[in-house]
Amino acid sequence: MYLQKRGRINRKSEAIRSLVAETHLMPQNFIAPLFIEEGKDITHEIPSMPGYFRKSLDLQIPDIRAMYQLGIKSILLFVKSDDALKDNTGKESWNDNGLMQKSIKAIKDAVPEILIMTDVALDPYSSYGHDGIVKNGEIVNDETVEALIKMSLSHAKAGADFVAPSDMMDGRIGAIRKALEENSFTNTGIMSYSAKYASCFYGPFRDALDSAPGFGDKKTYQMNPANRIEAVREALLDEEEGADMVMVKPALSYLDIIREVKNAVHIPVSAYQVSGEYAMIKAAAIHGWMDEEKAMMESLLSIKRAGANMIATYFAQPAALILNK
Ligand code: PBG
Repeated sequence: MYLQKRGRINRKSEAIRSLVAETHLMPQNFIAPLFIEEGKDITHEIPSMPGYFRKSLDLQIPDIRAMYQLGIKSILLFVKSDDALKDNTGKESWNDNGLMQKSIKAIKDAVPEILIMTDVALDPYSSYGHDGIVKNGEIVNDETVEALIKMSLSHAKAGADFVAPSDMMDGRIGAIRKALEENSFTNTGIMSYSAKYASCFYGPFRDALDSAPGFGDKKTYQMNPANRIEAVREALLDEEEGADMVMVKPALSYLDIIREVKNAVHIPVSAYQVSGEYAMIKAAAIHGWMDEEKAMMESLLSIKRAGANMIATYFAQPAALILNK
């Protein structure tokens, strides 16, 4: 057979495959999401996320130190709020002595070089489990943005490097940026969850924080999985409003969106490999149906190849261990 071009030449050995590889994963591309709960010496495995734990701060801090040593230099904090502290205003979220604020300070003290990002949305603090304030069954936009501003300022004051609004309210990035400026937090970044879809893949996360919506769903604020152009619009708006980076979430079912957004904006793009994506790989591995390590690395590589500069992932630690081998 005469062939002018043979694609297999560039695949014939490990040496040539690694020479022509277009995408490389590095531990510093990962953002590790962490679940924190009140107390001491507490570690709870999340039933729908085997191998992933919600921990009290004293146990979380040594982990964070270990992660930094592995090359994971960014963390994204979530806290589980006590039911007694939840209400419809979400006011616990801007309590300067709240669990989030205490955690930011303690982590900064213990591991000052780590980049701390914090989730900004009302759901863990809301008696309705919604990301915003509820009035007559509606999640009201403008009042919620006021609450998110207070929450962001309180995180910035505690020492957060980045606030990460995950609520999908309109206008919140511009409003938070303005408030940060006006309050002299000129070094605080904003990672906007710009294209966050109303996805069933968040199920295990809501188990982890006990934050499932008490009524209805999140479709009036999170995006319709059918839409692509809208994601680009949301990302461009957030860039214009002052976001330092934008995010697409979930990741694996939305690789096309990651690419579209990457091609449209002029700031870094992150993607969130969410709890349900982690759970799927874990579940298949536990049944012996897939090789866990390979599925983990292939999914992360695909997300990077799609255009994500960085990836928030529950696999940050095991993936970094493999990359450092
Ligand atoms: C809160 C928030 C959610 C996630 C991140 N921030 C849940 C939701 O929107 O219902 C999901 C993360 C995951 O599933 O890993 N607004």
